[in-house]
Amino acid sequence: MLVFIKKFAYVCPMNTQGNSNTSNSKASGQAMELFATCARKTSTILADELRAMGIVEVAESAAGVRFSGDLVTAYKVILWSRVASRVLLTVGRFDADNPQSLYEGVRAIDWTQHLDYRKSIAVDFTSTSSAITHTLFGAQRVKDAVVDQFKEEVGDRLMVNITRPDLRINVHLQNDKAVVAIDLSGDSLHKRGYRQDGGVAPLRENLAAALLLRAEWPSIARAGGALIDPMCGSGTFVIEGALMAGNVAPGLLRNYFGFLGWKGHDKSLWAGMIGEAALIAEKGKKRIPPILGTDHHPKAVEYAKANVARAGMAGYVKIEQREMSKARPPMRATQPGLVAVNPPYGERIGESDELAALYQELGAVLRKRFRGYKLAMITGNPDVAKNIGLGKRKASTFFNGPIECKLYRYDVE
Ligand SMILES: C[S@@+](CC[C@H](N)C(=O)[O-])C[C@H]1O[C@@H](n2cnc3c(N)ncnc32)[C@H](O)[C@@H]1O
Repeated sequence: MLVFIKKFAYVCPMNTQGNSNTSNSKASGQAMELFATCARKTSTILADELRAMGIVEVAESAAGVRFSGDLVTAYKVILWSRVASRVLLTVGRFDADNPQSLYEGVRAIDWTQHLDYRKSIAVDFTSTSSAITHTLFGAQRVKDAVVDQFKEEVGDRLMVNITRPDLRINVHLQNDKAVVAIDLSGDSLHKRGYRQDGGVAPLRENLAAALLLRAEWPSIARAGGALIDPMCGSGTFVIEGALMAGNVAPGLLRNYFGFLGWKGHDKSLWAGMIGEAALIAEKGKKRIPPILGTDHHPKAVEYAKANVARAGMAGYVKIEQREMSKARPPMRATQPGLVAVNPPYGERIGESDELAALYQELGAVLRKRFRGYKLAMITGNPDVAKNIGLGKRKASTFFNGPIECKLYRYDVE
């Protein structure tokens, strides 16, 4: 284990060293073309996160961030990124303006390099501005091409497993040009593994993390500032905030990844990186400042407590049942920090009329008991949010699933 710890000492995202210097042939092999997807409007935050990991060349687009690197780089992003949804390894690009060219293009890729005998696949297929619009049909043709290649060259019949395949293939068609990739994450990385109970309208974990990064939570935490969410629901903000402050890799909480059934997977490399991340977490947890989540709903409190425990944060994040009107800084807080909150906003729970008073009350409570704190509030109802009455604010747009939301940031004075 010590060997690995030495060898992978650069995986900590706070360390901005450049490329790997490992002697492992796969790890130090040719640079791979990688693409990390993320929630809409978070690609700038993701690009910054990847740069902070030492990945120099990153190219942002609306759907995510393109970058290149070896296996260490790919594993590093999968293990450490708080903002990425998926990490895709590009294995082919070709023109595909009809089903036959799609089939032939996929078939021309050597799948035996990526997949062993008696394995299963799944295909995710998306299409924009292209002749092939029927995504199920597109996925079927891709699957046929891979299955036929295996049948002919290896004499093996691949299986299809939509939920937990050995290899998840991702094909995106844009303007009749296909990009074929292997989904190294396998399932969206926002599924950290700690949230089994979501309660009402939970934030996605990687969106909550992106919002905390935008609100500069890591530097507030480093300075010893507290974190509180007075309407915490399932506890997403406070859990993500604790993981971030404690330098706990979000991938440590998961046990399923797309690369586990991929032929290029390097078990000992991954085990080394996990081992090092576990040590970093052990040390980092000691630096977690006071963190408190409160909610008036008993079920939300129950869910949040269970989620905190599953995230390994039971001693670090306190959850209490409390009306927002009675919100106070955590007991142990010695200095102001961050209030991160996602109040109900009428799209899914509550109604706008009733909400005006809630936002007014939130503003009053913050002015009374949280002077000197920063506030980061995400809401899908900008009209009603004005009732908070806290004066000057910075606004940015995000999407909570399909719902357009505003993140408002204030200095509470
Ligand atoms: C949109 S949800 C928050 C979801 C949370 N961010 C998550 O990821 O699970 C809003 C929460 O505010 C809580 N809430 C609404 N009014 C409240 C009040 N007056 N006092 C305390 N909590 C309140 C609700 O119980 C609900 O859990």
